[in-house]
Parts: sequence; structure tokens; C-alpha cells
Amino acid sequence: MPRMTEHMAARAERSIRMGMVGGGQDAFIGAVHRMAAQLDESMRLVAGALSSTPEKAIASGLALGLDESRCYGSWQDMLVGELALPENERIEVVTIVTPNHVHFKVAMAALEAGFHVVCDKPLVLTVDEAEKLVAAQQASGKVFVVTYNYTGYPMVKQARELVRSGSLGEIRKVMVEYLQGWLATPLEQSGQKQADWRTDPARAGAGAMGDIGSHAENLMSYVTGLQVGSINAEAVTHVDGRKIDDDTTVLLRFCNGASGILTASQICPGCRNGLRLRVWGETGGLEWCQETPNELLETSLDGTDLIHRTGDANVGAPAADATRLPGGHPEAFIEAFANVYRAAAAAIRAGRDDGEFFDYPNVTDGARGVRFINAVIAGSGQGWIEFDA
Ligand SMILES: NC(=O)c1ccc[n+]([C@@H]2O[C@H](COP(=O)([O-])OP(=O)(O)OC[C@H]3O[C@@H](n4cnc5c(N)ncnc54)[C@H](O)[C@@H]3O)[C@@H](O)[C@H]2O)c1
Repeated sequence: MPRMTEHMAARAERSIRMGMVGGGQDAFIGAVHRMAAQLDESMRLVAGALSSTPEKAIASGLALGLDESRCYGSWQDMLVGELALPENERIEVVTIVTPNHVHFKVAMAALEAGFHVVCDKPLVLTVDEAEKLVAAQQASGKVFVVTYNYTGYPMVKQARELVRSGSLGEIRKVMVEYLQGWLATPLEQSGQKQADWRTDPARAGAGAMGDIGSHAENLMSYVTGLQVGSINAEAVTHVDGRKIDDDTTVLLRFCNGASGILTASQICPGCRNGLRLRVWGETGGLEWCQETPNELLETSLDGTDLIHRTGDANVGAPAADATRLPGGHPEAFIEAFANVYRAAAAAIRAGRDDGEFFDYPNVTDGARGVRFINAVIAGSGQGWIEFDA
């Protein structure tokens, strides 16, 4: 059975007051954030500027049961309106779930107004923006969480523990892929909302590399702890008329001498959310797939395979702490997302931005992701280039 931990005890204290930007009617991930925030009563939505259209923003807030006075027509109004409230009533954290090009200005303004931030990936569009946000977070001391939600899975935490324990030996080879098929046709030309902005370089930054390659980069870095030293990338567009990469492959050389491949593609018919990580060291390997997230395969030199399972008694403390149910009851996307929220809430309560201690991806992880995405796109077709992690 899961153990009662410091984090679990802390969450009972009180839920954090959250204001959300984006995530209104017809939006995708904002609703997932709300479910994840509520699962452990980590955070509760008390205010929102939920859409780019003021009327829709207000209607979305009312539909979610927000107090009318805290359904704002714009994020600027939300910051001003909330700052005018007594400190013990106003929001404590701003959650940003807009298309990518909006992240930077909202995150900067939220930090400057004295709020903590939860921002979806990719953190921002440019390296300059990422550096400015890192500096602003450091100056503010506020908690800054980037929702690389796959780090929240118990078996991902177990994979990290296997690498850290040394049971695989020195890591030599890493393969990470994130394959989808939903953009195999020019879906954006139909006006489909999520495809529309994701294929617009001005709003998305990068295509497949930014949208899902960012998750792959983070997952690989989180589990292995390795730094990428150089890359050899090819980011291409297969669908006619598309102005952004929809298929990207990156050869990797890590600073410890390991080699690897990262591939992110949205033109693979039949693939849904095929995020898969494989890691091999001198004495063993591991494999984890997001679509079967409760199992982690560990392999060894002598051919003996071991399957670690969510909820089993023999998993390590980080995986056990991230598990809510006894083994055999599947836990998945929402629960993993909620683990990121639980860590975020614990950090906010403690008033300490410490991603390593509380186990959440922070602004530094987000900034490295932005540097990686931009290096891949700029370096596409250029052969091997140095990467400054
Ligand atoms: N972590 C994940 O697994 C995951 C999954 C999907 C999306 N995302 C990320 O979440 C973000 C949103 O993606 P989505 O698929 O939900 O997009 P979406 O198009 O479904 O929703 C975006 C929402 O933002 C609103 N918006 C746009 N500009 C705004 C503004 N200036 N002020 C207030 N609201 C504004 C839109 O009206 C809409 O409600 C993106 O950064 C994306 O990369 C992350």
C-alpha cells in the first residue's frame, strides 16, 4: 500500500488559490489541469481569464461556478483585480494554459505581480524569453512549475531511481520517441482549433519538436540525468502547405559519452500518444511506454527481465509516494498530472522553489527545453553542433 509521506500530509493543510489563463470552453489541457489540481485538493480554481475572447472568458468562468467578480475578460484584468483583494483571498498562483506564444508575457507579469506560476510546455518560444524568465523567477523567489506531466508517473520515477541506484551501470544509449498521427493530414486547413495554432510558427514556435519533442527531451533528461553535449538534427515537414516541422529526428551525444536518438513526429497514422523511453547502461536497461504506464521493464546482461509495476510493494519510495491505489488498479494521465500539482502545492506552501526536493520540473528545466527545441530547429540539416545544456 502507498505510504503516508511528508508531501501527502502537507497537502491536507490547505489548497492553494489558483487563477487560470486559458482553458475555457473548447480548450483542451486547461480542464486536465483543473482535474489534476483538484484530485488531491492541491489547488482550487478561484479566478480565471479563461479565453482570448472576453465574453467567452467570462462565460467559461461562470460555467465553472466561479464568483462573477472573479471571471475576468483578460489576464491583465485578472492580475489587477486579484491584487486589489486582501492577501488572504487573492490568488496565489497563476496557471498558464494558453497557446505557446502567450506564455511569456503572462508568466513575466505574474511573477512581477508577486504570484507563483504553473506554466504548460514549451515554456516560451525563444531562448531570450527563457533566459528572461529564469532571471525573473530567481529575482522573485516564487515557485515556477512547468507541467512536463510525464515526470509524474510512478514508473517514470522508478526508472529514475533505477538509473540513480547504478543498477544499469554507466548509461551508454538512450532512445526516446514521441509519435502521434493526428497531423498526418492538413487538419489545420479545416480550422480545427488545436491544429490551427500548433501549425502556426508565430503561435507555436516549433511544430512536432516543440509540441511533443519537448516532452521527450524532458523525460529523457529527468530519467537519465544526462546532459546533451551535441546534436545532429533533421526537422522536416511532410504535409504539403504546412509551415512548421511535423517530423523531427535528432542524434544525440551526451557529455558522459553516451549516444542516443530522439524522435518526435505527428505524421504517423495509428500512433496516438506513443511516448516511449529506452535506456541502456553497461549492465542493464529499462523501457517505459506512456500508453502502458503502470509497467516498467528492466533488462539485464544475463537475459533476466524484471517488470516493475505501479502499486507493487517492491517499488522505491518516489514511485510509492506517487501512487494512490493498490497494484492492479490502473493510474494514468490525470493522476500523473496531479502528482506535479501536488509537488507544486507543497513547494508553494513551503515558499521554496526547489524542483529537486519537491520533485517537479521548474523554470530551469523549461528553459533547457526551449534551448533544445531552438537548437534542433536552427541546427536542422547542419550536421553535428554543440549544445550548451
Ligand atoms: N502537458 C501536456 O501534456 C499538454 C497537452 C496539451 C497541451 N499542452 C500545452 O498547453 C497549452 C494549451 O494547449 P491546448 O491544447 O489546451 O490549447 P487550446 O487551443 O485547446 O486552448 C488554448 C486556450 O487558451 C485561450 N487563450 C488564448 N490566448 C489567450 C489569452 N491571451 N488570454 C486568455 N486565454 C487565451 C484560448 O481561448 C483557449 O481557451 C499549450 O502551451 C500546449 O503546448 C500541454
